[in-house]
Amino acid sequence: MSNLTRRQVMKAGIGASAMFAAPPAWSAEPTPSLRKIAADKGLIYGVATSSGRLAEDPKYAQLVATQAGMLVAEGETKRGSLEPKRGHLNFDGANKILRFAKANGQKMRGHTLVWHIGNPEWLVDALEKKPDEDLLVGYIDKVCTKFKGQFHSWDVVNEAVDLNQGHPDGLRTDSIWYKAFGDRYIDMAFHAARAADPSALLCLNDGNTEADAWWGEDMRVGSLKVLDKLLSRNVPIDIFGMEAHLKVYKADYSDKMISDFMDELIARGLKILITEFDVADIRGPADAVQRDADVAALTRRFLDVAFSKPEVLGCLNWGITDRYSWLSSYPDYKWSDGQFSRGLPFDENYKPKPMFNAMVAAYKAK
Ligand code: XIL
Repeated sequence: MSNLTRRQVMKAGIGASAMFAAPPAWSAEPTPSLRKIAADKGLIYGVATSSGRLAEDPKYAQLVATQAGMLVAEGETKRGSLEPKRGHLNFDGANKILRFAKANGQKMRGHTLVWHIGNPEWLVDALEKKPDEDLLVGYIDKVCTKFKGQFHSWDVVNEAVDLNQGHPDGLRTDSIWYKAFGDRYIDMAFHAARAADPSALLCLNDGNTEADAWWGEDMRVGSLKVLDKLLSRNVPIDIFGMEAHLKVYKADYSDKMISDFMDELIARGLKILITEFDVADIRGPADAVQRDADVAALTRRFLDVAFSKPEVLGCLNWGITDRYSWLSSYPDYKWSDGQFSRGLPFDENYKPKPMFNAMVAAYKAK
């Protein structure tokens, strides 16, 4: 970072103060850098971010620059953002994040090419009228070509699994993509991504595989069934993206269960990336100190299991500060009194929490 010229900093779209400021006043010791600790162990540490926040909040931008070794857009590489109007691709937000990443020596990954959520209305209508393959593979070709050689990995298909929608292999059928093209939409998507950007690792990304509950078991069984079918057809999947939106008071958790599931993925020749890690603290005690301790303890347990496997590439948080966490607004996770959720490593004032210390310790213990 320190060898950047002022011009490069300005080009990255943020002020110099955000990049070079001294450690914040609240911290007696400089806060350790997760990106550095992770890199020392050969692991990824990254965060989801947005171009608007990077531009508007210098303190936040500084935190992202110093802590994250990889960035992913929380929304700006989803279809609704990239192609709001048919045929008019808008890479503004994604370009800004990529520029910031390059200026700060960070990698970037893409999320997500194909999802049943986050699509523009025109696309939903168009697919219903005429399932034109170009709406799937043409789009993937253009977007992967645009970022060719620049993304570490792409979440090619997101949340394709649901064991309870009547499909024999556990595919989600309530999806515009399944309705338009049937089972083969996933094959089409991965082949198109591989052809357009052979250097990007390709992920099938999914959530709720981490809970020790019937619905977690359904997701684990369903994910393996779907993967077995896809891999038997030589669909080029490199990574299973494990979202890891943990819920410390809403779901049980078991080290053995998560370890066994990871071993099943590894036995299929896959790498694993923790793609969206956070811990919902909803339904916990009123005492935030207690909640922070519980969140940190679960974080440490989960990452210790993950990092015990050489095939786990690392972890990205879905955000970095509680100030900008989706957990504070999503209906299932938010507190009704409007307080911030406490599921990310830094609190709403950018102060590291016990969860941050747990992450540092887990990376260091690798
Ligand atoms: C969420 C974002 O955090 C929200 O800001 C947005 O409104 C909806 O999507 N699983 C995923 C992510 O794969 O894309 C979701 O992100 C969170 C759950």
